Amino acid sequence: MADFDVVLRGGTIIDGTGAPRFDADVGIEGKRIAAIGDLSRASGRSDIDVRGRIVAPGFIDAHTHDDRYLMQSPLMPAKLSQGVTTVITGNCGISLAPWCAVPGQTVPPPLDLLGEDAEAFRYTAFGDYLDALEQAAPAVNAACLVGHTTLRVAVMDRLDRAATDAEIAAMQALLRDAMVSGACGMSTGAAYLAAMAAPTDEMARVAAALHGFGAVHASHIRDEGDRIREAIDEAVEIGKAGDAGVVISHHKLIGPKNHGRSVETLGHLAQAMRHRCVGLDCYPYQAGSTILRKDRLAVSSRVIVTRSQPHPEYAGLDLDVIAAAMGLSPEDAVDALQPAGAIYFLMDESDVRRILAFPQTMIGSDGLPHDPVPHPRLWGTFPRVLGHYSRDVGLFPLELAVHKMTGLTGRHFGLAGRGVLSEGNFADVTVFDAARIIDTATFEHPVAQATGIDCVFVNGEMAWHDGASTGVRAGTLIRRR
Ligand code: ZN
Ligand code: CU
Repeated sequence: MADFDVVLRGGTIIDGTGAPRFDADVGIEGKRIAAIGDLSRASGRSDIDVRGRIVAPGFIDAHTHDDRYLMQSPLMPAKLSQGVTTVITGNCGISLAPWCAVPGQTVPPPLDLLGEDAEAFRYTAFGDYLDALEQAAPAVNAACLVGHTTLRVAVMDRLDRAATDAEIAAMQALLRDAMVSGACGMSTGAAYLAAMAAPTDEMARVAAALHGFGAVHASHIRDEGDRIREAIDEAVEIGKAGDAGVVISHHKLIGPKNHGRSVETLGHLAQAMRHRCVGLDCYPYQAGSTILRKDRLAVSSRVIVTRSQPHPEYAGLDLDVIAAAMGLSPEDAVDALQPAGAIYFLMDESDVRRILAFPQTMIGSDGLPHDPVPHPRLWGTFPRVLGHYSRDVGLFPLELAVHKMTGLTGRHFGLAGRGVLSEGNFADVTVFDAARIIDTATFEHPVAQATGIDCVFVNGEMAWHDGASTGVRAGTLIRRR
């Protein structure tokens, strides 16, 4: 009789708390970690030699747009291949629910980041979406945010104005209902046209429905350029209105004029953290990616189109090249390509490094799984932080790199029993080779599996091994109530 279902033997533990590594065996029993220590006298039904490897908690992707991808591609190769075992969905104000579109209806940007077809948006109640997600049985765990922009689309006839009292009440009711069903909080995205007309007051009043749930308010803040301080304050104020923790999403400084200001914004955030639980996430690249929009052209040194509904043949090409081919100015080409998505080179490397290295910064990919030629962050984020920034650049020790994608994130999003390797916690485990781990996805070839991930366990079951999915789909929908 074996003592454990699985024993990971002879590895080096980095437990996700930021503490120094140590050598130990790990015993898994059912969905949980049953023992960490010297298990040389014990046996496992499955006994795996992990000598020379790091054994870490499964990574938590703090910022995703996987709402629909989880159901469409339940094996989740883009995430498991990086060692990610849990994703936070519904970011940037954008969630797949609660909104039921009329078939054939145009999906208003930025909701089209989740897919351009109206049929995908078919959940009147958030709980229906959560049930469907559970039915789909994805290979990774998910915790789901409700997008304020989606709430607007669901209750308003037009988006270029503030919501009325009645509309705010309707959004509150949908949000409260979503929280009762198990959502983990709300996201806002006032940087996008569909929510730009929403004043702080509207978002704060909607957020009031979060009271009593211990929720999170994640924000794609209104301005990541000249008025970034005010935008951070607004996000914190909205969180306060719902007595929620705050997460500043994909923190960055846009445009040459604002480069270097992360010194100031991180100081400002450190101040805010003294009064409220405030966190932030970022991805390890100098380029961002979202819908194709004209206001980004002037602040970007280069723009690559990732998708275009009328011109799919242009996906992957530079906007300048496309504009020349079409005989148009870049601005007119933007109009001709809509609906479309793009990558924008608009950050400074020193800001990226300073933000990544900030102690409270979590790692979030912000990957866009429905773009045919996506930003490489979709497939590369986590190995890039571990291999490039931690090992090769030496920006921070491996223990801190792992903490930023495990324990820190689990704490900010209230994911009980996840993010730290300790006895009794869920057996979400990633085994990797610290010497070899690296991203391979590039802006030229963005769909490419990282190297150096040996195996990944989700809730005690091996979901990824030797560069391929095992076919096991053991993810859990993490309902917060
Ligand atoms: Zn965003
Ligand atoms: Cu996002």
